[in-house]
Amino acid sequence: MSNDNKYYDVHAHFLPSMDLGCKNINDAMQMVSMMEKQSCQGVIATPHFYPTETVDVYLKRREDNYAKLKEALLDSELADFDKKIILGTEVAYHHSLVFERNLADLCLGDSNYLLLELPFSKWSNEVLEDIEQIIRYRGLRIIIAHLERFYEYGNKKLIEKLLDMDVAIQMNTAHLLKFGAFRHALKMIKDQRVDVLCTDCHGTFFYPPNMEQAMEKMKKNGLEEDMTRMLQNSFAIYKTAVS
Ligand SMILES: [Fe+2]
Repeated sequence: MSNDNKYYDVHAHFLPSMDLGCKNINDAMQMVSMMEKQSCQGVIATPHFYPTETVDVYLKRREDNYAKLKEALLDSELADFDKKIILGTEVAYHHSLVFERNLADLCLGDSNYLLLELPFSKWSNEVLEDIEQIIRYRGLRIIIAHLERFYEYGNKKLIEKLLDMDVAIQMNTAHLLKFGAFRHALKMIKDQRVDVLCTDCHGTFFYPPNMEQAMEKMKKNGLEEDMTRMLQNSFAIYKTAVS
């Protein structure tokens, strides 16, 4: 990773017809093109998983939609990008996850990293207890998706507890780039509370692949050291996820 414009993204929604935003192959191809232009070296596709469907049904849906993207990629000038894509999941927290037999199948690629999205509401202690159980009894490593989005629900105290746990914290590039959020993003990064920075891209306009912009903003604000640390962490996770 000598060229500091290069990056790995371990949280991205660009498989067609899986999530809000990326509606079809056309959107997916445009998103891949944007990533390619920004020197993306590898990306983990992380469509949302909600416990309203079974893991098997979700995995089949993910496989089918990836196959459609792969076919379009291989038939285009972006063919080489297919080798950079790994399949993963953004798993929505639910108490039932503790008992989910196939939970490990939702990890990022071949790794034991589980990208976990916590509830957009006030948390109870049970949320943290369940995370502890998953770590201890399932042997999984937890990445908390976009922690910055949960402060507004009155979770400050539990967030402090979560930060003391053995979890990795992920922040979205949008938090650095969104008007009014930068100071909070800067503080989280400077306080070493963010391990991984990801785009969590969802489309070409709404939550677009924008790592390049985020990197420029970090450089302008003297965050090069932290940026390098976070990019290296993403690379390490990606490497673990590759078979
Ligand atoms: Fe996401």
